[in-house]
Order: sequence, then structure tokens, then C-alpha cells
Amino acid sequence: MYLGLDLGTSGLKALLIGEDQAVLAEAHAPLTVSRPHAGWSEQDPAAWIAAAEAVLEELGNSADLSGLRGIGLSGQMHGAVLLGAGDEVLRPCILWNDTRSHVEAAALDADPRFRDITGNIVFPGFTAPKIAWVRANEPEIAARIERVLLPKDYLRLWLTGAAVSDMSDAAGTAWLDVGGRDWSEPLLDATGLSRDAMPDLVEGSDASGTLRGDLAARFGLPEGVIVAGGGGDNAASAIGVGVVQEGQAFLSLGTSGVLFAAAGSYAPDAASAVHTFCHAVPRTWHQMGVILAASDALEWHSQLTGTPAAELTSELGDVQAPGRTRFLPYLGGERTPHNDAHIRGALTGIEHATHRAAMTRAILEGVSFAFRDSLEALTATGTQIERLTAVGGGSRSDHWLSMLASVLGRPVDRPVSGDFGGAFGAARLALMADRGGVTDAATAAELAPPPQIARSFEPDPALADAFTESFQAFQSLYTALKDQP
Ligand code: XUL
Repeated sequence: MYLGLDLGTSGLKALLIGEDQAVLAEAHAPLTVSRPHAGWSEQDPAAWIAAAEAVLEELGNSADLSGLRGIGLSGQMHGAVLLGAGDEVLRPCILWNDTRSHVEAAALDADPRFRDITGNIVFPGFTAPKIAWVRANEPEIAARIERVLLPKDYLRLWLTGAAVSDMSDAAGTAWLDVGGRDWSEPLLDATGLSRDAMPDLVEGSDASGTLRGDLAARFGLPEGVIVAGGGGDNAASAIGVGVVQEGQAFLSLGTSGVLFAAAGSYAPDAASAVHTFCHAVPRTWHQMGVILAASDALEWHSQLTGTPAAELTSELGDVQAPGRTRFLPYLGGERTPHNDAHIRGALTGIEHATHRAAMTRAILEGVSFAFRDSLEALTATGTQIERLTAVGGGSRSDHWLSMLASVLGRPVDRPVSGDFGGAFGAARLALMADRGGVTDAATAAELAPPPQIARSFEPDPALADAFTESFQAFQSLYTALKDQP
């Protein structure tokens, strides 16, 4: 049996699978985010360890873990865990959705080596600019940094004693040579670091170490359990949903939205704000567009109206041609395609007759248009996407998936109910590592097949022109708003 641990922003999820990949047990421990100043988002790494202890204890009470062979890790990307002598945590972890380092990010991004070597814009959410911010604002902490780890790799340090990262998560730091799959010394040097401060690198499907004996004894686990490299949460989710080989893609309607396509070669296009990262299996990459508020936009509407999101979407009938009410979902800035930390959302075309359902519809449509922006950015690099699997909380809405199919002009598939997220993908990576690893996407795909599809949503050709026209109006609204003070 294999255990996947997914360190999310709002909680840590553990999923136990058997050799046949059937789910045997699961456990969850909540986490909170602290926002001490506008734009800041932090977590205390000690809370992750406490959450890991809680889920291991809970699993031990509900399942016999003596047959455990491997653990895989998945996690929120980009966070900066700063460690001093003896791996002491120097300050709370600065998370992926923290935008305080936008000035430092722009300065690093202006150095052409970053886009050349990493294939990506240096976004404020990435790790490197966070170190530059700490150097500028907390020099006494910066002077004590001996090691920098990503969130899930801090859990690994606790589990195994080894400082290791995997290629997919490392690609989100802005220090990785993403094509060459190795740390870039010139880029580390540009933020005052060297390779010594960085974890070793392994592929996500390879072993990174073994579980510490004292933890094994404490939680009733066998000796010698391997811990696989694992992946950043998006790459691990892709493994969970069987998106491994070129041509396969998924969209995630979680708090943030992700349009993710697997790629057999490294073909970056930083200027389009497409993220090009290593995948969690060897010789494979992926591209993704990241929308900062997806289900989060619906959640905002739900809070304002005091109505659960599921009730709001159930008020909508069949998908119809767009009206004049439009919504820009930039509640906290946007990554793809704008790389704009300052832009904020907008609701336009409201009138006396605009009722709650029209607002809900506009919100789903605005997020769908943001996905179309990402789809166009990915396809402009030559990536071909024929159809998409939808995952995440928002994928429960028939209306939203039908609308997405018509807006994106591609069939959207909803898997049978089940959990195909980061924890499941991480457990699959543990299984691969236990079998000696995989060599490429094709061998990985044998162990990570796509789930069965419960329902496919087809694009409605009768709506294509109206959605294209409305999408163009949506795009011009961004242009009109972007320089507003
Ligand atoms: C990806 C990203 C988010 C986090 C959320 O670039 O920032 O998807 O990984 O967990």
C-alpha cells in the first residue's frame, strides 16, 4: 500500500491506496493562513508537521498500515521555508499567493537570464523574489539563511531527515534550469544563494529517502518505507488524473484555476505568462495557465449573498448565449495571461433587471473566459489540446462545465466520482518509486491511467460566435481597466 500526502493551503490530505490503486482510507487536517498585512499570506511550518502527525494518527486508527511500502508528497508550490543552523525555521513560510515581493519580482524579471534559463516570468508568487524581499526588509533573518525549502519538502525533511526536492516543484522557484532539470548557479547567485542552500533534486517518481525509524515506530509503520520525490500540487494532480503524455490536459476549478497540458518537450514562452515547468516524471514537462480566482470568485459571490455556491449554480438553467453582464475575476490580480498583481475585478453591464442568477452566470462566464485566455496562451506556443478533464469543486456544476465546453470549443469530461487530486497522484508516484521509478511519460502512463468518465460536455456550435464576441468584449475590458489608479 502507498500513502499520498498533499499539503494544500487550507489543509493536509492523506490518501492510502492498495497495489491495485483502490482507495483504502483517507484523513484530513485543516490549516489556516495568516494575512498580517495586505498582500501577505503566511503559514507556520510547525502547523504542517502538526497536521501530518494528526493525519498519520487518524489513518493508523482506521487502517492497518503495516503493509505500507511508500509515501509520496504533493504540495502547494512556490512557498519559501527559510531554515537557519540546525534547520531552525527562521520566519513563517511566505506562500504562493503572497504578493508582497512584486517589486523584487519585477527587478529579477528584468534580468534576462531568469526568463532564458527558467522559461518563465519571475512572478511575485515564485520563491526567488521572496528571498530578495527578505534580504531587503529583514536583513537579520536573511543573514541567517542556511537552507531554503519548498513546503512539501519541509515535510520530507521531517519524515526522512533528507533535504530533497523534485523537479516539478523546483521549477516554480525561478532558480531551476527547467530544460536542463538542474539548479542554475547564476540565478541562485543573483539572490545571494548558492547550491549549498538548495535541496538535492530527484524526479518525482524516484525515491528521495526512507522514513525515519522513530516516526515509523511512533505511527505503527514498517521499517524502510520509501518516500518518493512527489510533485508540486498541479503536477501531482495531473498524475492523479492521468495527464502524463503530450496531448492530455485537465482544467482544475479549485480556489485558483489551472489549465494544465502535459508536454513531451521543453517549449517555453515566458512572455505569454504561460508557466512551463518540469512534470513529475522524467523527460516530461508541462505547461499551465494559472487563474488566481476560479471557484474563489463564486465563493466571494456566495459570501455576499449569504447563499451556498451549490444553491447559486442550481438556480441556473441551460447555458444560453451571453447577456451584457460581464465579470472580470481578478479579485487578487492575475497571472496568466496578464502577470498583473495590481488589476482588480469588475462587474459591468448591470441594470435594474439584473438578478442574482444573472450575477452568478456572469461570474461563471468571467472565469470561463479567463480559462479561454489561458487556452489561447497555451495553444499559441504550439500546444494542442483536443479535450479537457475537469477536476476540483467547481466541476460539480453541470452548467459551468457546459459553459466551459462552449467557451473553450472543446469537450470537457467529468470523471466518475472519486478523488483524483494531488494526494492520489502522490500515492501513484510512491508506487512508481517503489517499482524502481519510470523512465519516461509512456512508462509512467501505464501506472497512471485516466479515470473513467461519468459525463462529457460537448461545445454547442450555436453558441460559438456569441461567446467569441463576448470574450473579445471581456478582453477589451481588461485593457480599459488596467491603467486605472
Ligand atoms: C501554481 C500555484 C498554485 C499553488 C496552489 O503555480 O501557484 O496552483 O500551487 O497550491
